[in-house]
Amino acid sequence: MSSVQTYADEVARFATLQAATRSHRRHHGCNAYTFEDGAGLLALARAESAARILELGTAIGYTACILASATEQTQVDTIEGDPEHVALARNNIRDLGLDERVTVHSGDFFEVMADLNGPYDLAFFDGLGPTVRLIATLRNVLRPGGLLVCGNLAHAGTAERRSIAVEFEQSGRWQLAGSIEGGGTLAFRKINPGAPSPTGKSRKELFMTSDEEQIHALRTEWLEAAQSRDLDRIMETYYPGPDYLAYDVMPPFIFEGWETFRAHWKRFFEMFDRDPTFERADTKVHCSGDVAFTTGLTRFVGSIGGKAFDIWTRETLGYRKFEGNWRIIHDHVSVPIDLDTGIGITDFKL
Ligand SMILES: C[S@@+](CC[C@H](N)C(=O)[O-])C[C@H]1O[C@@H](n2cnc3c(N)ncnc32)[C@H](O)[C@@H]1O
Repeated sequence: MSSVQTYADEVARFATLQAATRSHRRHHGCNAYTFEDGAGLLALARAESAARILELGTAIGYTACILASATEQTQVDTIEGDPEHVALARNNIRDLGLDERVTVHSGDFFEVMADLNGPYDLAFFDGLGPTVRLIATLRNVLRPGGLLVCGNLAHAGTAERRSIAVEFEQSGRWQLAGSIEGGGTLAFRKINPGAPSPTGKSRKELFMTSDEEQIHALRTEWLEAAQSRDLDRIMETYYPGPDYLAYDVMPPFIFEGWETFRAHWKRFFEMFDRDPTFERADTKVHCSGDVAFTTGLTRFVGSIGGKAFDIWTRETLGYRKFEGNWRIIHDHVSVPIDLDTGIGITDFKL
């Protein structure tokens, strides 16, 4: 079995399950978007002769069944967080006679992975947007030389996507091994530490090596999140945990810890009458190792309780790397003071 047509014929056995996934998603209104290149996925798993496979994102079982067809002995651990999907997947897999080969684990990816024993020959990520943290965790459960098949790369946030590109660019850790699903899903081989660096293939679309560029990307991510009042997205740009510190212009002026700052942003977003806009000027970036800072001016235009604001502030941000990604660990926002009146000046840039 080797031609693309042969794989397509083989995968046709699961076409009804794929159609059921599409129908389920329409009715359930969930994110169970079924994988669009079952033949390509089977070809990759078969070429690896993968005996142990880990899948993240079962939905109702379509790709788990394909992966289980890699060899006659293949065992698949697949993880799904939606209990309704888990129940449907278990039924579907049993109906196809694959329940001794596929184990559906119910729960969050990270929580379930903590209890699974690797090493796996192949890991397939088909959850929603991948993250660098997830990729690092999958690397740990892959055997040296194992294959990570990573879908939905285009669904990662802008900053995350660039960090992922940096991770995969490390030739001592990964080698691009192929692509399926029209390039939407890439396969990377885990490189043994100490193994000679592969020459690699073109990864132009993934390149983003300079720290300065990554920090600019993080700032763009922040701007887009702020302007759309996307709380989860903006909080992804901050350093998690108690070390985060903000000196803001708003009361209580000092915010310690990521959770405290999240509550502040939630309140702040709720105060706006409509989405605010931010503008930046004179940004300068300085990086060294895992620490960086930026200086510059930021304009905030918005309306709160019918009162319009258009103010410029001075902004100094500190950054540290968290699990390979730049995050804001400190920000200091201020306005100059008119020494005669003691009142802050907000139009100094205009
Ligand atoms: C794109 S669908 C998987 C499609 C499936 N592989 C197929 O081709 O039919 C993604 C699935 O991942 C699940 N999921 C997303 N994030 C998750 C998480 N953090 N933990 C567990 N399951 C998650 C969703 O509930 C959804 O069913």
